[in-house]
Amino acid sequence: MNLINALETRYSTKAFDSHKIIPEEIWSQVEAALRLSPSSTNAQPWHFIIASTTEGKKRLTKGTEGLYAFNSQKILDASHVVLFCSRTDMDEDFLHHILEKEDKDGRYATPELKEMMDGGRKMFVNLHINEFKDLPHWLEKQVYLNIGNSLLSAAVLGLDALPMEGIDIEVLNKEFNLKEQKLTAVAAVSFGYKTEDDFNAKIPKSRLEMTDLVTRI
Ligand SMILES: Cc1cc2nc3c(=O)[nH]c(=O)nc-3n(C[C@H](O)[C@H](O)[C@H](O)COP(=O)(O)O)c2cc1C
Repeated sequence: MNLINALETRYSTKAFDSHKIIPEEIWSQVEAALRLSPSSTNAQPWHFIIASTTEGKKRLTKGTEGLYAFNSQKILDASHVVLFCSRTDMDEDFLHHILEKEDKDGRYATPELKEMMDGGRKMFVNLHINEFKDLPHWLEKQVYLNIGNSLLSAAVLGLDALPMEGIDIEVLNKEFNLKEQKLTAVAAVSFGYKTEDDFNAKIPKSRLEMTDLVTRI
């Protein structure tokens, strides 16, 4: 599938066919996309709770009771559902963990380069802590980038998907003990295959015109 085709045909799937399961060789590519998404300073401040069983998906629907009930069936009928979580801070241990992994992966030809990257990343983290006072928000922005990456990846792989902010973050944080792990739920994405009668597949896409969006300089 070429890029424009993937962008034009992907859409927010409102009805998934519960009988259709994503084959492992396709799903593993979505998981690769989760891991390979870029993030500012390579901070990778995310964690993914992946539900592929009926029990797992039911557990996720604890976050769609009441106000968000309109999303429950979209979780239960999907093949796989990912709860995207964000770190709530970047402590010394985690920063060290990333740095050592980069070193192990061969990114630093010299100790000086490694030190420079460590300093640069800490400068950004400290700016967001001390000056902008928005560290959790900055970290969540990285997670949204990952969500976008996963939606495009799904489209290229011929999968249908639905991003959902309509989930109860507090309920899910409690359900998965996320706060204790310095994490918070952010949004969920259902992946699978649409039903033939999904109304949302039949209506045309609507976007503002390029002239509304772009300033060319
Ligand atoms: C971050 C985000 C959160 C969304 N949350 C929901 C949701 O909770 N439930 C839902 O049915 N659609 C949700 N949507 C779908 C949007 O309404 C949809 O992406 C938008 O109308 C554009 O349509 P398209 O995705 O079909 O191109 C969400 C989309 C995004 C990007």
